[in-house]
Amino acid sequence: MRGVENEFVVLETAEEVASAAANEIADALRAGARTLVLTGGTTPQRCYELLAEMELEWGRVTVLFGDERCVPPDHPDSNYLMAKKTLLDKVFPASVHRMPAELGPDEGAAEYEKVVAAYLPLEFVLLGVGEDGHTASLFPGHQALKAHNLVVGVDDSPKPPPERVTLTLPVLRAARRVLILATGAGKADAVAKAKRGEVPSGMITGAKWLVDQAAASR
Ligand code: 6PG
Repeated sequence: MRGVENEFVVLETAEEVASAAANEIADALRAGARTLVLTGGTTPQRCYELLAEMELEWGRVTVLFGDERCVPPDHPDSNYLMAKKTLLDKVFPASVHRMPAELGPDEGAAEYEKVVAAYLPLEFVLLGVGEDGHTASLFPGHQALKAHNLVVGVDDSPKPPPERVTLTLPVLRAARRVLILATGAGKADAVAKAKRGEVPSGMITGAKWLVDQAAASR
């Protein structure tokens, strides 16, 4: 079980955050973590590129996703496509379970619920943060924050596209390790609010945060 306190580690640059994140993931996989949950957004891309160059036993690893936009998997907005191009096309995990979000938020969530249920507790979860403090597709004040199951659909996301599928707070809180990345001055408000537990990214108890100085500046 993780503790309840969140840990905030401040590094100088976004490149250092990406590199530290890749090292954390590599260490966890080497120590035996068998499930790795990836995130979308722009922040993790460099981390994925660095991870792709590391010597790791990917054949023991199952890759899952924390959230997905309701677009086909070959769409430029697909979180899966970003992870595929930067990491998954270069390494060979035992299995990759993308969220079938092109089925729509409800059906996509129902299908993925069955997948996630087979891998509990999730061992290593990587997450990003939006400028409003959202994480995965859990947005401030949204009813999806109250979900008690594992995966939920969202049809009114304030960040486009509006339709998404996301892991829920309970499954993220129950994960063995959660690493949250935030870089750039645009995330400074979100990081400050997360420290006070005011936004969804701050509600994942026991998470480790890697932030650059710009994101830690408030
Ligand atoms: C998504 C993401 C989302 C993302 C944050 C940060 O589907 O949009 O999974 O949770 O991590 O919005 O995005 P950036 O790294 O692009 O700022």
